[in-house]
Amino acid sequence: MIAPGKRRSFQRRVLAWYSAHGRDLPWRKTRDPYAILVSEILSHQTQISRVVPVYEALLKRYPTAEAMALAPVEAVKAITDPLGYKIRGRWLHGAAVQVADRFGGVMPQTLPELRQLPGIGRYTAGAVMSFAHQRDAPILDTNVARLLRRYFGVVATPRARTSELWSLAGAVIPKGKGYLINQALMDIGAMICRANGPRCDACPLRRSCDFRRKAAQGLRRPLR
Ligand code: ADE
Repeated sequence: MIAPGKRRSFQRRVLAWYSAHGRDLPWRKTRDPYAILVSEILSHQTQISRVVPVYEALLKRYPTAEAMALAPVEAVKAITDPLGYKIRGRWLHGAAVQVADRFGGVMPQTLPELRQLPGIGRYTAGAVMSFAHQRDAPILDTNVARLLRRYFGVVATPRARTSELWSLAGAVIPKGKGYLINQALMDIGAMICRANGPRCDACPLRRSCDFRRKAAQGLRRPLR
């Protein structure tokens, strides 16, 4: 689907950029799947700078899924609700209860089992597999989807596009480096390839990006 040379140069540029510019985030210092799950549920549709203190408060109060499962859901919600999108406190607590009751307190290690937990879709399950269990599982959130769509010039209809983007998200993973490339794509998608006002001048992929080439040829209105 992607020419091998193009794939390799994409991987090389993305990983080099990440080693120089990747964000120093507290959940990048742990491989604990429960902590990663907390970070991913909190990060959904929320600015990362607002997530960090809530993530730290939650883990301090409930260091394990079992500890959270023993708490009343309202106590968890009291910490998470100020972030908005309030259903998340319930999901998190529900997931902790299931991990405690059905999985003996050990976070599941497969995609299908993770997806049985409340509030966990394909993205979050992929994030736990890749960031905690160190598997080459793809992830696709809106930021990564936008980056891949622009770079590879994906033009499929919306439904076909989603499955094409998931395939691309898997195809760009260098063997054994799912963790690194996924974290890198999250950062480039959020910080550089922004929805309004992509910072193409700072982008490691600018020389071979379909979106940028079309904008330069006048085939596409450049975004500010
Ligand atoms: N948003 C959600 N998960 C993230 C992660 N691991 N890194 C950066 N932003 C994120």
